[in-house]
Amino acid sequence: EKGGFEHFMLKEIFEQPKSIHDTLRGRLLVEEGIIKMAGIWDNLERLNQAQKITIIACGTSWHAGLIGEYLIEEFARIPVEVEYASEFRYRNPIISEKDIVIAISQSGETADTMAAIKMAKEKGAFVYGICNVVDSSISRVTDAGSYTHAGPEIGVASTKAFTAQLTVLSLIALKLGKHNGHLSNQEFMRLISELDTIPQKVQEVLDTTHEITKEIAKNFVDAQNFLYLGRGYNFPAALEGALKLKEISYIHAEGYPAAEMKHGPIALIDENMPIVIIAPKQGHYDKIVSNVQEIKARKGKVIAVVNKGDTQVASVADYVIEFPETSECFSPIIASVPLQLLSYYIAVYRGANVDQPRNLAKSVTVE
Ligand code: M6R
Repeated sequence: EKGGFEHFMLKEIFEQPKSIHDTLRGRLLVEEGIIKMAGIWDNLERLNQAQKITIIACGTSWHAGLIGEYLIEEFARIPVEVEYASEFRYRNPIISEKDIVIAISQSGETADTMAAIKMAKEKGAFVYGICNVVDSSISRVTDAGSYTHAGPEIGVASTKAFTAQLTVLSLIALKLGKHNGHLSNQEFMRLISELDTIPQKVQEVLDTTHEITKEIAKNFVDAQNFLYLGRGYNFPAALEGALKLKEISYIHAEGYPAAEMKHGPIALIDENMPIVIIAPKQGHYDKIVSNVQEIKARKGKVIAVVNKGDTQVASVADYVIEFPETSECFSPIIASVPLQLLSYYIAVYRGANVDQPRNLAKSVTVE
């Protein structure tokens, strides 16, 4: 059932070209120049007239939500807030009938997300669901929604569900932007053609980084801390990279926006601190270069996740992981994959139970 892989997590990491493709299939019609999504189309007016969109979720799904905020604000120009469902539900948030709430949940059974949805509905908001499990509680209680087609995710650490969530959020943002006039047809066409290549680029990053991440992981089996840094769209990808590492390897890890480093976390850096930096060509590359130099000046160990052919960051980094270039907005989908592999191998070398980490359940149905 693990398809020849040692763990479900590794199998699910390798399934991503297919799960992303399945999530795009029937929706992204590049030749016709359209995105077909019944849930969005049927509620287009309501969605595009929203005063604001609040995304609610927990854990990895919350990280996807943060990237969703960047996508929807950039392409559809609708104000977005992202909240932990567990905070939202207990603080009497300002939500009205003019609001849209997007709930993201792989399992569709997370208790806090469910309770937050009920509250949003009581306040009159229209609730849109992004779930992976068909016919789950959340998918049934929401007003409309789009499924991620990642297939069953067995590993407790979410991998393919996350990249499928990013895929659906990309489709939603581009579709809203196209219909509300904020995205020109030319730009829309350019972006959907690029989105169409993502499954293939994810396959490429799996093929080219599997061995390297395995090798790099060997050097960090005894690490006690890790920092993950990224900017823009890759800041939430840094948070997700850190969560993956702590969940399965039990190494303390934190994600930060790279520029925030100088406001505190830089104090942690010495020769024992590994720092994963996501630094694609697009997206404030120059700023990231100077962040890397600041870290190297303090002897931190840099694992740079850069675009293929990068020389500037690569020349100062201790370890380099390359991934194919894409538009900045889609780069977390690709960059997350080698981070998943890195966490996986560090955990495996530490002898941890990767598919069933201690203290964790696949879906948190208690409050
Ligand atoms: O099923 P959900 O997406 O609602 O689950 C939310 C979180 O419990 C989940 O993402 C959790 O953080 C995972 N273990 C992350 O790998």
